Amino acid sequence: MKKRMLVTSALPYANGPIHLGHLVEVIQTDIFVRFQKLLGRDVVYVCADDTHGTPIELSARKQGIEPKALVTQIHAEHVRDFAGFGIGFDVYGSTDTPENQAWAQRIFSRLVEGGHIERRSMELTYCEQDRRFLPDRFVRGSCPRCGAADQYGDVCEVCKSTYAPTELRDPRCALCGTAPVRRSSEHFFFKLDRFQELLSSIALGQAEPELDPQVRNFLNGWLEKGLEDWCVSRDGPYFGFLIPGETDKYFYVWLDAPIGYVSNTERLARERGDRDVLDYWGERADSEIWHFIGKDIIYFHALFWPAMLKGAALKLPHRIVVHGMLNVRGEKMSKSRGRLRTAREYLDTPGLTPEQLRYYFAANLTPEPSDIDLNVDDFRHRVNADLVNNLANFCHRTLSLLRSRHEGRIAAPAGWPEKLRGTFGALREARTAYERLDFRTAMRMLIEASNLGNEFLQQEKPWAAEAGKAHADLSLAANLAYALAVLLQPVVPEMAGKVLAQLGREGAKLADLGELWGGGTPAPWIREGSLREGGPLVPRIEAAAAAALLPEEPKESGPKGPVAPSGPTAKGAAAVEGGPTPGSAEPRHSERGAESLSQISFDDFAKVDLRCGLVVAAEAVEGAKKLLRLTVDLGEAAPRTIASGIAEAFQPAQLVGRRVIVVANLAPRTIRGVTSHGMLLAAGEGAGIRLCELPGEVAPGSQVR
Ligand code: MSP
Ligand code: ZN
Repeated sequence: MKKRMLVTSALPYANGPIHLGHLVEVIQTDIFVRFQKLLGRDVVYVCADDTHGTPIELSARKQGIEPKALVTQIHAEHVRDFAGFGIGFDVYGSTDTPENQAWAQRIFSRLVEGGHIERRSMELTYCEQDRRFLPDRFVRGSCPRCGAADQYGDVCEVCKSTYAPTELRDPRCALCGTAPVRRSSEHFFFKLDRFQELLSSIALGQAEPELDPQVRNFLNGWLEKGLEDWCVSRDGPYFGFLIPGETDKYFYVWLDAPIGYVSNTERLARERGDRDVLDYWGERADSEIWHFIGKDIIYFHALFWPAMLKGAALKLPHRIVVHGMLNVRGEKMSKSRGRLRTAREYLDTPGLTPEQLRYYFAANLTPEPSDIDLNVDDFRHRVNADLVNNLANFCHRTLSLLRSRHEGRIAAPAGWPEKLRGTFGALREARTAYERLDFRTAMRMLIEASNLGNEFLQQEKPWAAEAGKAHADLSLAANLAYALAVLLQPVVPEMAGKVLAQLGREGAKLADLGELWGGGTPAPWIREGSLREGGPLVPRIEAAAAAALLPEEPKESGPKGPVAPSGPTAKGAAAVEGGPTPGSAEPRHSERGAESLSQISFDDFAKVDLRCGLVVAAEAVEGAKKLLRLTVDLGEAAPRTIASGIAEAFQPAQLVGRRVIVVANLAPRTIRGVTSHGMLLAAGEGAGIRLCELPGEVAPGSQVR
């Protein structure tokens, strides 16, 4: 008996519409689930809305409704949009349910009993006007490192350094614009480092969940930096679950969100009545749990979540599949670059069908977390050339000719002509490609097979050939159409279903192709029969329809008011609130970094005076953990003093004698009492910082261009 499978997609936030980026994920997951069903496996697909957190609470407040009303309304929209794309959830629930609350409390108290939770007080930013603590994204001020004005409380868009909101200079509340104060508050911390051993084995590929090697690399990077405690509580007002025994403290949204996977499995199990939630999540359950997520939330799923499950004596995921981000022309969408089209906008565009998009994403999906570039011409070309003109055309032509010239009867002889025998290898490879989540190759293989089918028709000309031979050829071609349709079901279930229905084989499974999988030459699967009625399979995409996929133009934004929290999207605030920085895969760096990467002219660049500097002395700065005071020879009358935030990566002695690149014409600034006359170029963060260095033959003071 094969294990029962539970498959999930990440839970979309309940304060915005489903967009094409979300669709990449659910379409990938849905294809996988449908493929498992084709294999005959017992698989359920669980998802839900992620309903809690500050952004949702504030967005409801702004609309003058209760958060519960907002999430109910959004839930209905999400369900309708996903249904429009044929996503076959077995349950699409919510995290704002009594079951989820019960599981959150149960898991939290098991973590407390296990000694994994610590309570301590911390300094936070508090707005007396709004009477609330302010999450990172709701405080703005000047960067404590480079002084750039109007930065968020977590990361500076100009110098890219990260810091705590309490470190911001001249901080202001993003809601009301007044200056916040510091206030201390008691919070609960999950001691992630107690799971160091487990997490290291996962990162090494020696323990489940299984991860793509690239994802394990991210994990290794984080583990090297050291695991920080994770704050899992938030002060009220907050939309979430009250922590038992507390009066105004709530579980942080990222604590109860993944627990939604468990509580919604429970709901599904109860609805079906033939299984129990612990058949999936019990520590020793004979199940396989698969999570599908985007690369921006790896930290939560591959570190926190396995540690939480382990600490609560529940079953760990078998595999976490991570996909890349859907970008447009290589850029992440944002406020300044327009936003991705919504699922609803796509569904409402005349001339576009959901299966065209399902096919396009399938043709671009691999097991690696590579980004997908949404290219309108490529979308139109791929779908028209491969799906319409090749796959659908082969099936349609074959069945139409059988109808118009042979009364819709199939009469297949036992032997296959050579050209069609040549398709079996490709069909088998399509299956193994699906198994390893390489949908791109699976599609390529199916196209290769239907190409051979089209060539076969072109060569044998069954519309002109002698009737007996033509009938035999078309009947065998119909058998190939059958095999193709079986294997296309996960990606384009409607189109494949239409072909199967005409052949009288609805719902055919992989096992129905029997001998094919043994590696030999199968006997034709359909020897005789009569075709049923059938209509067109899939329309072509016209240029005008494809253009509707282009991102929505950014709206003219007014002058940057001091109080506008630049789109406190659920993603921004909730992914960032509290969680440590998951390096390059974290949205806040890439997404918001891109916004500030506006172009400069060559003249602008030429204003920057870069010079070779020789470090002649280096010392620690008292009271500043990250800072070093360097003495750097720039070939001038006297060496300069430069303060550099690289102390976590270097001992002072290691730096002496190195030739570095210095921004020589930066206005002097005083940092922690050290007046700095220039800046060093370096890459990386924390202990991972590396200097841009020059070889020994470059003299101090040489210009760098
Ligand atoms: N609510 C959290 C997930 C909690 S799971 C316990 C969340 N929500 S989200 O709505 O922002 O994103 C849901 C999923 O969609 C994530 O896996 C995310 O990576 C994915 N995507 C969101 N935008 C995307 C693209 N532009 N491209 C591809 N996937 C994207 O994160
Ligand atoms: Zn305020």
